Amino acid sequence: MATDNVYVLFFLLAFLCIQLIKPNVCDGALTSGCIPAERSALLEFKRGLKDPTNRLSSWVGEDCCKWEGVACSNHTGHVVKLDLQNPHPFSDFSDEPYNNWTLGGELRPSLLGLKHLKYLDLSMNNFGGISIPEFMGSFHQLQYLNLSRAGLGGVLPHQLGNLSDLQYLDLYNDLDPNFVVRVREFSIGDALWISHLSSLKHLNLKSVNFQNGTHWLEALNMLPSIVEIYLSLCEIPSVPLSLPHVNFTSLSVLDLSYNFISSTIPSWLFNISGLEHLDLSDNLFQGNIPPAFGNLASLKGLNLANNFRLQGGIPTSFKNLCKLQNLILSGINISKDLLELDEIFSGCIKMSLEVLSLARTNISGQLPEWLFQLASLQELYLHRNQLNGTIPESLGQLSQLVVLDLWYNHLEGVMSEAHFGNLTELKYLTLSSNSLALKVKSNWLPPFRLESLWMGSCKLGPEFPAWLQSQINISEIVMSNASIIDAMPNWFWSLISTAVYVSVSGNQISGHVPNLLHLNNLYGLDLSSNYFEGPLPYFPPGLSLLDLSNNSFSGTISLAIIMNMPNLVYLSLSENNLSGEIPFSICQLQVLWILDLSKNMLSGELPNCWNNSSPIEVMDFSRNNISGVIPESICSLVSLQSLHLSNNSLSGELPLSLKDCGKLILLDAGHNDLKGEIQTWIGESLTSLRFLNLRSNMLAGDVPPNLSRLSALQFLDLADNELSGTIPRSFGNFTAMKVIENFSSWRTGQIRYKEQMFITTKGNTRAYDVSLSLINILDLSDNNLFGGVPEELTSLFGLFSLNLSGNHFTGEIIENISKLQQLESLDLSRNNFSGTIPSSLAALTSLAHLNLSYNNLSGEIPLGNQLLTFNDPSIYIGNPGLCGFPLNQSCKDNETAQGRSNADDRDDNEMIWFYMSMAPGFVVGFWAVWGTLILNKNWNLYYFRFIDNILDKVYVFTVLKVSRIRKRCCFQQG
Ligand SMILES: *[C@@H]1O[C@H](CO)[C@@H](O)[C@H](O)[C@H]1NC(C)=O
Ligand SMILES: *[C@@H]1O[C@H](CO)[C@@H](O)[C@H](O)[C@H]1NC(C)=O
Ligand SMILES: *[C@@H]1O[C@H](CO)[C@@H](O)[C@H](O)[C@H]1NC(C)=O
Repeated sequence: MATDNVYVLFFLLAFLCIQLIKPNVCDGALTSGCIPAERSALLEFKRGLKDPTNRLSSWVGEDCCKWEGVACSNHTGHVVKLDLQNPHPFSDFSDEPYNNWTLGGELRPSLLGLKHLKYLDLSMNNFGGISIPEFMGSFHQLQYLNLSRAGLGGVLPHQLGNLSDLQYLDLYNDLDPNFVVRVREFSIGDALWISHLSSLKHLNLKSVNFQNGTHWLEALNMLPSIVEIYLSLCEIPSVPLSLPHVNFTSLSVLDLSYNFISSTIPSWLFNISGLEHLDLSDNLFQGNIPPAFGNLASLKGLNLANNFRLQGGIPTSFKNLCKLQNLILSGINISKDLLELDEIFSGCIKMSLEVLSLARTNISGQLPEWLFQLASLQELYLHRNQLNGTIPESLGQLSQLVVLDLWYNHLEGVMSEAHFGNLTELKYLTLSSNSLALKVKSNWLPPFRLESLWMGSCKLGPEFPAWLQSQINISEIVMSNASIIDAMPNWFWSLISTAVYVSVSGNQISGHVPNLLHLNNLYGLDLSSNYFEGPLPYFPPGLSLLDLSNNSFSGTISLAIIMNMPNLVYLSLSENNLSGEIPFSICQLQVLWILDLSKNMLSGELPNCWNNSSPIEVMDFSRNNISGVIPESICSLVSLQSLHLSNNSLSGELPLSLKDCGKLILLDAGHNDLKGEIQTWIGESLTSLRFLNLRSNMLAGDVPPNLSRLSALQFLDLADNELSGTIPRSFGNFTAMKVIENFSSWRTGQIRYKEQMFITTKGNTRAYDVSLSLINILDLSDNNLFGGVPEELTSLFGLFSLNLSGNHFTGEIIENISKLQQLESLDLSRNNFSGTIPSSLAALTSLAHLNLSYNNLSGEIPLGNQLLTFNDPSIYIGNPGLCGFPLNQSCKDNETAQGRSNADDRDDNEMIWFYMSMAPGFVVGFWAVWGTLILNKNWNLYYFRFIDNILDKVYVFTVLKVSRIRKRCCFQQG
């Protein structure tokens, strides 16, 4: 109230001033067509604004009606319209012009001098999170008010309820992952004031927080003229299931998507007879889809997507919806054979339907004939279902089809020219992850011109598909694992001149790659796992993702090539024949997250120029010929989670600076020439460590007992060093090794990168996908350790492999070893263990690999289920005192013949374990992406297509988004 009085006083004064100087200005006003008082009001308003790009430079001179954004009435001369919307729309790919053109500063109440204002638009600016001034409620003639994306926030003032002439109100406050605009959210309390907006037709409150909102539905129900209501992303917890009387006589559009409504679908909706568009998607609605939907005869668009608790299928009453154009039911459990939906889709809906999504609805069966009778169909989404059989040629009848998305089903067979007969409008074709093949004549000229082609794991080869040549507007091509065995045609590189994402990975495509500097739009290029050769070419400066791994590129990594790609987020040159030194310029890639140079012939030293502004999380230099020491600066990389240095010729000690790598989860420095002791700071500082591999170096000294303080450590390999002393008793305390199913995925960020580490277990070495798996391994083999094995080790219940071989351990094998129920591999060979083999060993039911050779064990090899499966005598050899199966030396007392038993049963064990461990990673990855998508809802194609990408190596979209956030965050901070 106090502020109100100040305003009033201010205006009295302003008014007096204007009265006093009136005579002089009035003359000017007559000729200029601008009311002087309104001109002053505008100038005073401008004084409060920040206008960095001088958008309001035209606000000089007498005739304010000619000023930018100002319009006056032709009859009265009063200012009736003020439109200060940002002239540059927000773009997902560059925010620069948008940001530069925002107005900011304060909203001065002088604006109220425009008493006849009917239209006010301040949208897409950035007022730094200030609240909507209460005086906004005092423009009594206002009909149009747009304050969306203006960088305003706070509780919506109830004074807005005084705008009884208002027809259009837009307060959409973007919840954009780029958080360019939304500095503070809007929220609403008691919403009864809305009911006073008696002229309101259009209301957009998207992203306004309704957590504490009350009476909003009653208020809306009292608006006699309301036509459109948008309440998406409002955190609405619930809606009343019934309303005493439903007005909404004019309501045509209702959007309640992306809220938390968990009731059944409320019945009052079905009394809104004029409803044309209803969006209830992404809530928690439950129960059946009510048959009453069939009463909404005007319905043109219905979206119930992702209410995963809805069930019971589509009611047959849907066949009465003769105007329905868009039907989005993805993410609902429908669980029907498509054929059973025949009755619904053969009704009058069949002429009107333009968009149909039944993606992720658990539908099955073959593609039925009714589908191809939908004469107006433009977009068809059926991904992630159990559809099977072949695709009929009738597909070619759908002459309006723009989007065909059949990704991730069990469709099979060969598609030919006939399948695409009349598909002249087709722009988005997604057939990935089926068992489809495309066989067309080499001179086929497709009727369509695609923008997006996703044909991962479809058989397109062996020749490189020549028909692609006609697709000159293409922006995304995914032809990974497409059985192409051919040279890359030269035309391909010009074809993709407009492309943003190209993947041809996993084929057998050969040839040199030319310089690609002309690909201005390209942000992702995946040529991995092919036969490309020759030197690395130049890539375009905009590139964010580059995967050339597993090819035969040769020559050096030139500094100039790297420096030309300042936007790289992901760079993999792994598994090529690259040689020479790693260019130091690599440190200057400011947004790089993942750097994989492994499996080449790189030499020289590692760059020592890292600094803390780099967001690198994963670095892989393993399997090269890199020498020198581990660079001091490496832990300046504050985000570093994973460092692979194995199989090089690194020397020196582990640098003390490593202790600054507090986020390090994986350190793999095995197979180098590192020396010195394992310092105690490892156990103190590297608290996030889950994988530590120092195998095959020249490390000496004792094993520090405090390593066990690494509570996340699940993989410790110190084998093949010169360590001495005993196993610390504290080694029984490795918390993560006590966990039986260590399902916690290690990457909580947005990026999913298949990280590999070579792991030696069960007597051989192979690559494991460490980022997703549960590997609990303790390997201390081939050192100079001695003494007994501490009893405490038997509390590491989650241990999968224990290797103590090649040391000088003495004493008996611990009886309690049977507590390690997960153990699949146990190697105690080449030590001085004595006594008998404990019979409890036979209780290790998972054991697949056992080696007790070359000790001083004696007595009978115990009989027992598990041990019977080990019929290879070499695992007991070198223990002169042992007798019994499978040794030739029988024990005198019992010479019972041993039946050879199911020895091969466990051969697949390893693979099963491996697959099992992949599942949780996938789920986590999926939700990470989904979570991002929910933030930026834009119904159409983009999501489907990027969700598609989940099976790809990297989530292009998410990565880019996030990298931009990071860039922005760091830019702003410094
Ligand atoms: C005033 O007249 C001009 C020219 O006829 C027209 O373009 C403009 O829209 C009118 N302004 C308003 C506010 O009606
Ligand atoms: C936007 O502003 C930035 C920083 O002031 C400036 O570097 C850049 O050139 C401007 N861009 C445009 C398109 O005006
Ligand atoms: C809702 O009310 C609670 C309790 O007063 C408060 O803590 C919370 O911040 C409010 N939420 C919003 C969005 O205003």
